[in-house]
Amino acid sequence: MATDRLTRRDFVEAVGVTAGASTLLGAPGIALGGSANEKIRCLLIGAGSRGGQLLDSFLPQADVEVVAIADVDDSHAGKTADRVKKVKGNTPETARDYRGLLERKDVDAVLIATPDHWHALPAIHAVLAGKDVYVEKPVAHNVAEGQAMLRAARKTNKIMAVGTQQRSSSHFQKAVEIVRSGKLGKVFWVQTWNYENISPTGLGKYPDGEAPSYVDYDRWLGPAPLRPFNPNRFHLLFRWFFDYAGGMMSDWGVHLNDIVLWALNSKGPRSVYTSGGIFTSDDDRDTPDTMQVVYEFPECTLTYSMRKGNGLRLNGHDYGILFCGTDGSLILDRNGFEVIPDKVVLPYGIKLVHGDRPLRKIHLKPETVTKGNDGQAAHVRNFLDCVKSRAVPTADIAIAHRSTNTCHIGNISYKLGRSLEWDVDTETFKNDAEANALLKREPRKGYELPQV
Ligand SMILES: NC(=O)c1ccc[n+]([C@@H]2O[C@H](COP(=O)([O-])OP(=O)(O)OC[C@H]3O[C@@H](n4cnc5c(N)ncnc54)[C@H](O)[C@@H]3O)[C@@H](O)[C@H]2O)c1
Repeated sequence: MATDRLTRRDFVEAVGVTAGASTLLGAPGIALGGSANEKIRCLLIGAGSRGGQLLDSFLPQADVEVVAIADVDDSHAGKTADRVKKVKGNTPETARDYRGLLERKDVDAVLIATPDHWHALPAIHAVLAGKDVYVEKPVAHNVAEGQAMLRAARKTNKIMAVGTQQRSSSHFQKAVEIVRSGKLGKVFWVQTWNYENISPTGLGKYPDGEAPSYVDYDRWLGPAPLRPFNPNRFHLLFRWFFDYAGGMMSDWGVHLNDIVLWALNSKGPRSVYTSGGIFTSDDDRDTPDTMQVVYEFPECTLTYSMRKGNGLRLNGHDYGILFCGTDGSLILDRNGFEVIPDKVVLPYGIKLVHGDRPLRKIHLKPETVTKGNDGQAAHVRNFLDCVKSRAVPTADIAIAHRSTNTCHIGNISYKLGRSLEWDVDTETFKNDAEANALLKREPRKGYELPQV
């Protein structure tokens, strides 16, 4: 089963592009000649926590050079440039504003690890400048930004891969293969979850203050609304605020729901209902600390369950994906997976009403896979290989956009407090102007998306 690679036909179907556009997709490689030894020269935008983790995977690659680094925080850019110099020997050019660096002819690929509200602009600018892109998950701050990124990637025929790296992990691929094979019987319910107890202090509460002098704070805010600097809304912690991200739903939920869409071979749910709130944290966050998101698929229900006020694990896992089928279950996380056969019993009272009857036998065998991984190294290699071969990457923007949409619509239902009907083809809510208005936001002046 081609679990880690879409065929071109799958891809065209998934993206819904026309025959003309698919011809465009078949255009020969542009940036590089395709030689396995040829160097791929990278610009890293966003040299914070994740930017550093990405370099753990990119720097060891013999065919990778990091020639430039953009970060609005000079200290992050400087430290990361020192690291590149130590490992690779060259001193990358650094800048606060990535736009000048995109003009460099020697940049082939752009790696984007900025906060979520800063994914769409650099990704679109990069492909318009003729570069291939690896952009972190979740794809974007909102649905409209993700759509614009997809359009820009297709229009320019550039690679746009997304950091949903579990798709490149061999045990995730094997687990998806089992679900799709039908071995679990009819899969009718899937649960994804994140549980931990950080109550009640959580992030704590911090007063607004002055941004550090070595940071371009206005540019850090970018398209988000202007507001005073606060350390709780800045590096790393931005993810708990709707102005910049989508809370746990899109920070972690995207990794989990991504695997569900893959295993169900689905473009997305037809409806969503979220219940939740800030019940257990007494901190600055404005995203929920508790939520239950119920997604309806034609023949299956998916529940994303998240709590920050109680860490009781589900079957020993504080996060994961549970596929429930009529013959058994499969429970999956980054460490491995377990296949648990089920047992059929007689319904209560049936013997007395209808008499005894033989029980259906289940032939599913238990299976345990340990020593899994999150797929990061293979994911990075897949991106680099696609830059050379022009093949569609494992986590192509079209795929990750759909997975990210499950998070956006979960959050929109949370904000509105009602059930919403979702049309996966038009990526709009049915008969709900108020919900559709939340698929995008008005960016701050000067940070509008280019028209593509
Ligand atoms: N794939 C994964 O498993 C994974 C893991 C962690 C984080 N992430 C994603 O990576 C992204 C970054 O998260 P993080 O934890 O590294 O955050 P972070 O705050 O540690 O780092 C973000 C960096 O981007 C810089 N930045 C902000 N705006 C910028 C701009 N306009 N131009 C250049 N630099 C800018 C910041 O100064 C900071 O150095 C998020 O979208 C997050 O969801 C993915």
